[in-house]
Amino acid sequence: MCGIVGYIGPKEKKEILLDGLQELEYRGYDSAGIAIVEEGALHHFKAVGKLENLRRKTENFTSSGFGTAIGHTRWATHGKPTELNAHPHLGKFSYVVHNGIIENYQALKRELQEEGIDFLSQTDTETIVHLFEKYYTETQDAFEAFRKTVEKLEGAYATLLITEVAPDTIFFAKNGSPMLIGFDGDDIYFASSDTAVIGKAKEVYYLEDGEYGYAKSGKVHLFDANGEKEFTCKPLPADKLSAQKEGYRFFMEKEIYEQSEVVGDAMLGRVQDESIYFEELSEGFFDGIEAIKICACGTSYHAALTASYLFERIAKIRCEVEIASEFRYKEPLLSSDTLFVTISQSGETADTLEALKMAKRAGLKSLTVCNVDNSSIVRESDTAILTRAGIEKGVASTKAFATQTMALWMLVLYIGEKRGTIDKETLCREIDAMRHVPKALKVTDTLHARIHRLSKRYLHGHGFFFIGRDIFYPLALEGALKLKEISYLHAEGYPAGEMKHGPIALADSELFTIALMPKTMHYEKIKSNVEELSARDATICAISPLPFELADDFIPTTFDTHPMVEFFEMMVITQLLAMEIAIRLGNDVDMPRNLAKSVTVE
Ligand code: M6R
Repeated sequence: MCGIVGYIGPKEKKEILLDGLQELEYRGYDSAGIAIVEEGALHHFKAVGKLENLRRKTENFTSSGFGTAIGHTRWATHGKPTELNAHPHLGKFSYVVHNGIIENYQALKRELQEEGIDFLSQTDTETIVHLFEKYYTETQDAFEAFRKTVEKLEGAYATLLITEVAPDTIFFAKNGSPMLIGFDGDDIYFASSDTAVIGKAKEVYYLEDGEYGYAKSGKVHLFDANGEKEFTCKPLPADKLSAQKEGYRFFMEKEIYEQSEVVGDAMLGRVQDESIYFEELSEGFFDGIEAIKICACGTSYHAALTASYLFERIAKIRCEVEIASEFRYKEPLLSSDTLFVTISQSGETADTLEALKMAKRAGLKSLTVCNVDNSSIVRESDTAILTRAGIEKGVASTKAFATQTMALWMLVLYIGEKRGTIDKETLCREIDAMRHVPKALKVTDTLHARIHRLSKRYLHGHGFFFIGRDIFYPLALEGALKLKEISYLHAEGYPAGEMKHGPIALADSELFTIALMPKTMHYEKIKSNVEELSARDATICAISPLPFELADDFIPTTFDTHPMVEFFEMMVITQLLAMEIAIRLGNDVDMPRNLAKSVTVE
């Protein structure tokens, strides 16, 4: 996700910005840029890809006098990762960097364009700099122009602006996206996360939503809706790793909490009022395609299985899913009317990559759903849908799965629309449900506390069964995988209706059943499957919006109008449950034994 740094002072600004951005690399990005105002002149540099590219571009530039400087790493949301779309964005005499989303940017952009202002990029951010310059031209007062600009912005933002007309000042505003100000004597730093200023600033002030202002001559002037205000700084934490975790105990925990936001990012620009749009898919890409074959491993395979139900049910297109390592050696029969889809968080999984190469040799068109741009699988595929989850550090995949599943659901609707197999009413209903997902993914304190409390009852026993039906079966598989990866307890995912064909023989009070019981999908059927287990004395932990009297433990859910929304809410619960059990067992949740984040060997 995007990162921001800023600095006012006499030090070498280029190095401060590049070092700060380097510290924010862990958040993920696909382009970067810096802008510096020094001795009244603006300088800027941008580069696509790694910070190394930006370093090379700035090799011969130094910035040692007093000045202002801002920098940014961008993870593309509005518009592709190109230099033009990279921040800082330039007006005629000012630069801006921004994290978040300006929700009303289209209306603002239209107004500005009608007044004859040209836009260079496809981003929402560029609106900020043009608004500022328009108001400056009207008022000849830089702070007043910035204040009026902020007043116009709707949505989430953390933004910094520098300008030739106030060369000793950085203007800042924050609403919904994080931003802090760091102090070391008269030197003032800005950053979206404290890792960027550790070792530089001595103390920090974490801006609150609705605050804005300017920094100049070693002093910060802070305002909110009630006018100028005082503020108190805190000492800066010294440990970079814990700062990267942003207060969470583990990266996995942070990533679980991030899901609401990153799934929203995955939907940005793609979920439109009455249709789904993918700028990465050319018109006619699906022409001649009559079937879909998906190959993936681990969690990505579970996202694929979930999608296979949706492809057939909603888009009415045949869909088969295979574990990549099996597919490679089964001498599969492939036909050219089949679209070959790979799913991968890392884009480097050897089995998935090799499966893709095989399909390409057989002449199949290919598409990947991947989290890492320019990864091997993305480069090898005809086209890629990026999941925009940001870097996932926890070995146990969480937010990657959430964004993969969302991307695939969007793809189902897109293909259904293209093939004419989905009517407007169904499409609008699905889109409406999609918009509820970020809310369903929010972790409340009550939910987390409840799961933490009941996790203590699940630290022993001879195994776990996660059971579900339909799309909740792949979710059961994923829940079981999460638990076994980090707790080292035996867990299996099963289709609920299959228990009576063998596995129920294991049922006794030491067999824990995590039952996924959505209201909107085969509730009565799964209820009777769970009753069968309860009758054999299995310990039942039911996850459902409907009370279930046979449950030994019950985790209530709140969203009960669409199976996919129920799916996402239950997904978070299974992730938290696995994590809380693993923490109680004293395991390293982020780096479980025997596992690697990216499996680049066969
Ligand atoms: O990077 P990929 O999505 O291709 O990785 C596939 C699996 O290795 C991965 O999902 C693995 O199962 C995770 N540890 C699951 O948490």
